[in-house]
Amino acid sequence: MRVLVVYDSVYGNTEQIARAIGGAIANDAKIFHVKEVEPSGLKGIDLLIIGAPTQGGRPTPAMQDFLKKVSEPDIRGMNVATFDTRISAKWVGIFGYAAGRIARSLKKKGGNLLLNPEPFFVEGTRGPLKEGEL
Ligand SMILES: Cc1cc2nc3c(=O)[nH]c(=O)nc-3n(C[C@H](O)[C@H](O)[C@H](O)COP(=O)(O)O)c2cc1C
Repeated sequence: MRVLVVYDSVYGNTEQIARAIGGAIANDAKIFHVKEVEPSGLKGIDLLIIGAPTQGGRPTPAMQDFLKKVSEPDIRGMNVATFDTRISAKWVGIFGYAAGRIARSLKKKGGNLLLNPEPFFVEGTRGPLKEGEL
């Protein structure tokens, strides 16, 4: 099974989650920072997992840019799953979260969303990840 995990991460917390997910799913899963992946080259992947930190209720600008460039014919019918990292304070919820927005973007282009967008929680802006998240 060809698995690709694409992540963005400012302080390293989302990268840790991306590596944990990729490592747990398949020995040969490819795990790449969003800047290392050509958005037009996503053909032939069985499972695409995308994750980003939540910033202002959205994925990071680099991830938003990547999602805009992902093409509909490449994504149509592809199995996809999404995750984010976020702070658990209730007030930030009014802005929304990255994982849901990533999922909506991929679904709009025909991606087959396998799971609900998955949150992982950090203690504060720079982390660390809350206990148990990894
Ligand atoms: C500019 C900025 C905006 C943020 N906005 C939110 C937000 O709207 N909601 C939230 O839950 N966390 C927010 N955070 C906290 C981030 O989600 C947190 O920094 C991130 O999960 C850490 O992941 P990383 O180490 O991979 O960058 C924000 C952080 C930054 C730096």
